[in-house]
Amino acid sequence: MSMSMRFCFAWWTRQAQVAETVDVIIRNGNAPDLPGMEWEGKYSRYRRLYKLAMDEARAGRRIILVAEVAGQIIGQIIIHLNRADPTATGYLYAFRVRPEWRNRGIGARLIQEAEAALIRRGYRRALIAVAMNNPGARRLYERMGYSHFAQDAGEWSFIDDHGLLQRVVEPSWLMERSLPG
Ligand SMILES: CC(C)(COP(=O)(O)OP(=O)(O)OC[C@H]1O[C@@H](n2cnc3c(N)ncnc32)[C@H](O)[C@@H]1OP(=O)(O)O)[C@@H](O)C(=O)NCCC(=O)NCCS
Repeated sequence: MSMSMRFCFAWWTRQAQVAETVDVIIRNGNAPDLPGMEWEGKYSRYRRLYKLAMDEARAGRRIILVAEVAGQIIGQIIIHLNRADPTATGYLYAFRVRPEWRNRGIGARLIQEAEAALIRRGYRRALIAVAMNNPGARRLYERMGYSHFAQDAGEWSFIDDHGLLQRVVEPSWLMERSLPG
């Protein structure tokens, strides 16, 4: 399935005192987007995870949404679908927006599009884990109707782009939202 949503954002630029209009496209991510999702090396450690997610997306088990401006990937969110029980929960993760594009509503649009994709597939609940030391992201989720229902030790591991095992410990809040039927 291919989806492309085009949003026209107008921002008031402080320096020029003029309204700047920028096209932000939110669409499904494809294999050619993988290098752009690494942000010039900042996230190359997740190369294998993103490749796996892309393979899973082709098999219908994940959805990858990217936000693009003038050919550059400036944001992303991945949705893990629970195909064993498609009425259950979609898990949102790997959510981020490039620092220079934050605080313009792009993160909120990515979440809204992720939820819309879940609703189209009959999912009734979205879940997201947010690190306890990330109150800004938690505030965004709360504003978007998510509430915290549990804590998670946030312990997981992955193989990085050098083939090395990396362990992560990131105590998190689990946040959920019921999706409209
Ligand atoms: C979390 C993250 C994805 C949010 O992306 P974003 O594009 O900045 O999100 P939004 O712009 O929709 O919302 C962020 C803030 O901007 C504000 N905002 C939204 N539209 C705005 C606009 N047009 N003008 C000014 N502010 C705006 C929102 O009200 C919100 O304010 P808050 O900080 O008081 O909550 C981004 O901060 C990020 O990548 N962080 C690092 C990675 C991360 O923490 N990911 C989440 C892991 S759980």
